Amino acid sequence: MSCRERRNGYMTIDDILAKMIAYPEQSAHDIDHLLQVWTYARTIGQMEHLDADTQLILETAAIVHDIACPLCRKKYGNTNGKKQEEEGMPLARDFLTGCGLDGTALERVVYLVGHHHTFEGIEGIDWQILVEADYIANAVENEYSRENVTNFIERIMKTESGIKLANAVLLS
Ligand SMILES: [Fe+2]
Repeated sequence: MSCRERRNGYMTIDDILAKMIAYPEQSAHDIDHLLQVWTYARTIGQMEHLDADTQLILETAAIVHDIACPLCRKKYGNTNGKKQEEEGMPLARDFLTGCGLDGTALERVVYLVGHHHTFEGIEGIDWQILVEADYIANAVENEYSRENVTNFIERIMKTESGIKLANAVLLS
């Protein structure tokens, strides 16, 4: 079943997106960033022909991946990657409880939120694509150098579609 079909009592990906946009204390940048990362992740996932369950996990993780940013700014005064991963896991679990994801899918999304800044030992196409999508969005926002981009593409990127997209957006 596609994540855009409404099931009885279950949220679609659009409902999850609307709920995340309404999440308290986000800046305009936070909302813009999650929309960018979701769009890149969705596009790469579709181009890589993910099965429906993996696509749903990927898109959900992309939408909620930075859920801890408002809390980290308050608590630590910054959005340090490691703290954000740690703080994000319980927040994502709470946020998604009752959204209709089965337990395995929900825990996978939580795991991805907890590892979206971890580039070593990436396992699974969902984790790989989330990292690629977040990098492309960050590179556009922060105007990363060509050297940084080339390096990331060579060392971290794996999917053919992510590499094509990164080249088109960042190096053309
Ligand atoms: Fe991000």
